[in-house]
Amino acid sequence: MSVLFFLSTIFLILSNGYASSYPLYARANVRLDNSASVIGTLYFIQATRTSLVIIRGTLAGLVPNQTYHGFHVHTSKVSETRPNCTAAGAHFNPYNRTHGAPISPITQRHVGDLGNIYADQYGSAQILIIDKIIKLTGASQSIIERTIIVHRDVDDYGLGGQSDSLTTGHAGARIACGLIQSTSMTEKEAFLKFLS
Ligand SMILES: *[C@@H]1O[C@H](CO)[C@@H](O)[C@H](O)[C@H]1NC(C)=O
Ligand SMILES: *[C@@H]1O[C@H](CO)[C@@H](O)[C@H](O)[C@H]1NC(C)=O
Ligand SMILES: *[C@@H]1O[C@H](CO)[C@@H](O)[C@H](O)[C@H]1NC(C)=O
Repeated sequence: MSVLFFLSTIFLILSNGYASSYPLYARANVRLDNSASVIGTLYFIQATRTSLVIIRGTLAGLVPNQTYHGFHVHTSKVSETRPNCTAAGAHFNPYNRTHGAPISPITQRHVGDLGNIYADQYGSAQILIIDKIIKLTGASQSIIERTIIVHRDVDDYGLGGQSDSLTTGHAGARIACGLIQSTSMTEKEAFLKFLS
């Protein structure tokens, strides 16, 4: 009986601990390279310890007319207020893999490889990405205090045969970026941000 009581107490403490820390949220104000100009804000949610991460938001001011732009998490943090996108360093790649597609297994992509976003005829991109590899917590795959980057060109997923296909997807210059930071929000705010 006392052992059961002990175990159930431990379980309650643990489950309350988990209940209070999840869902995890993050936010990135995305700004043009070396500029204070915000082109949109991205929101990130991880509902439980094992959940996929969802990224939601709209970016404006990209190249108009159905243009794909490489979209990756890079390793280092940048200034939140006036980011130098070059200072974010290489793709976030803690397991030293070659560059790949977001649907590739973890052994065949960088953790930060999120593929492409699609800009419409007005240069606006509605983003809804669900990724199985990035996390908002933990030592190895967390993207917190790292940088999301929008590239000028399309990410070839490593298949383009260019000299930089297997490192950057030949995605070209860094046109905008944003520091990914933890944030909190109410359930209602989350509902509106992720489901609208
Ligand atoms: C984008 O495409 C639309 C429709 O074809 C066209 O009217 C518009 O001028 C184009 N905009 C740019 C910036 O090329
Ligand atoms: C941006 O960062 C890169 C790499 O750290 C550096 O070489 C460059 O001088 C920086 N540019 C500006 C405008 O600060
Ligand atoms: C990363 O992988 C490359 C190519 O497989 C290898 O040459 C390099 O030594 C590795 N770097 C580290 C730090 O393990």
